[in-house]
Amino acid sequence: MLHFGWFVGHGFGVQGWGTPGYAQGYDWKQPQIYQAAARLFERSGLDLFIIEDSLTVPDTYGGSAEVSLAQASFAPKHDPLALVPYLLSATENLGVVPTVSASFYPPFTAARLLATLQHFSQRQLGWNVVTSGSDLAAQNYGLDQQIEHDRRYAKAEEFVDVVRKLWRSWAPDAVLEDVAAGRYADHRKVAPIDHRGEFFAVRGPLNTAPLPEEPVLVQAGASPRGKAFAGANADVALALARGVDGMRGYRDSVRAEAVRAGRDPDEVKVLFVTKPTVVGSRAEAQELRESRKNLSRRDIDSQLNSISYLSGIDFRKFDLDQPLPALSTNSNRGTLAHFTSSAPDGATLREILQRRSGGAGDSIIGTAEEIADYFEASAEAVGGDGFLLSGFVDPATVHGVLDRLAPVLRHRGLLRSSYGDGGLRSNLRDF
Ligand SMILES: Cc1cc2nc3c(=O)[nH]c(=O)nc-3n(C[C@H](O)[C@H](O)[C@H](O)COP(=O)(O)O)c2cc1C
Repeated sequence: MLHFGWFVGHGFGVQGWGTPGYAQGYDWKQPQIYQAAARLFERSGLDLFIIEDSLTVPDTYGGSAEVSLAQASFAPKHDPLALVPYLLSATENLGVVPTVSASFYPPFTAARLLATLQHFSQRQLGWNVVTSGSDLAAQNYGLDQQIEHDRRYAKAEEFVDVVRKLWRSWAPDAVLEDVAAGRYADHRKVAPIDHRGEFFAVRGPLNTAPLPEEPVLVQAGASPRGKAFAGANADVALALARGVDGMRGYRDSVRAEAVRAGRDPDEVKVLFVTKPTVVGSRAEAQELRESRKNLSRRDIDSQLNSISYLSGIDFRKFDLDQPLPALSTNSNRGTLAHFTSSAPDGATLREILQRRSGGAGDSIIGTAEEIADYFEASAEAVGGDGFLLSGFVDPATVHGVLDRLAPVLRHRGLLRSSYGDGGLRSNLRDF
């Protein structure tokens, strides 16, 4: 059995833009399509619904927001935390995971909001802790540029530590609700945390009720520092990796980091992000793969705009028919390495883009049987743990993937058909 989830890379943003059914019968700005998708995910047996977030209108590509806004890429977007209560009210077992920036949320605010949402849920909540690599986002929070890459992770470590200390500032038995004695809670079991660190000073205690269970921590950074952070802190690592060897190496290194941090490596599930397109026949798959290699100007701009924002490097300045120079970034290192490794060394930028849209690596086109074959064979070679399906959450996209794929995965015993009643963390540790 494998773990599956859905990662909506557009966040609580424009869904289905550029597809023939865009906005037919739905409005991305309202919660209903996300609720409908969440119900389908739960009926299908997925464990997680992870909602990306970002904090800017990107204008790195060519120094303009033209492509970001024309293609509704990264903007506009609502805050995913506001969506969570709607998703929780639509489901009972699905893990609901909003993204929270360790760089820009004050830890007291994050601890309180997440504790509130966990109380609403049946222990279904997760938090996708990101370090927000973009200078553009930093400029919305009073900085000229983001702090240095590894220091961002040091800050994220401290952020998680403070949030957890706040969650633990009430003993589990602090609430008495003793009506006869007139005591709601026992003050001896609620204590300040008096945290004074490099990045945060927080007195505590938290001013909300103790949690039934701490939310599941999800993490996605792929640099060595990112993997160390995942190994030490995460219940789930979201991963981008190239091929079976890349996946195995990624999973092995996160598990080794977990051991180094004194944890059982089975406590961290490494889930690989895959964008599936399910078609009716092998011939249709081949045709679609070929057609995607014919890059339009729109496709080129779309891919280059994304990687420009994610890396902070303006890719407009590179010649499409030359190999890329060696690149380094203070922003998303794992994502930049994944992009540049899409094609063999010495490939031109155009060839990299063709490979990416042609179905290499994290994007897969096939019949439901072929895609299930891919998941089954890769997970067996890698040793576990599962996959995150990525894509829009408009009705056409989610049904287009799951109506055909979920029955095949379930028939093969790869996808769960029921949930235990222990909550999200327990579901993740079922296998
Ligand atoms: C699959 C995936 C999903 C991510 N989701 C988000 C997100 O929602 N918001 C965000 O600010 N960063 C997101 N990131 C960025 C990472 O959380 C991390 O901060 C970034 O990759 C820098 O880490 P690295 O240099 O260790 O790779 C994502 C990265 C990956 C690979």
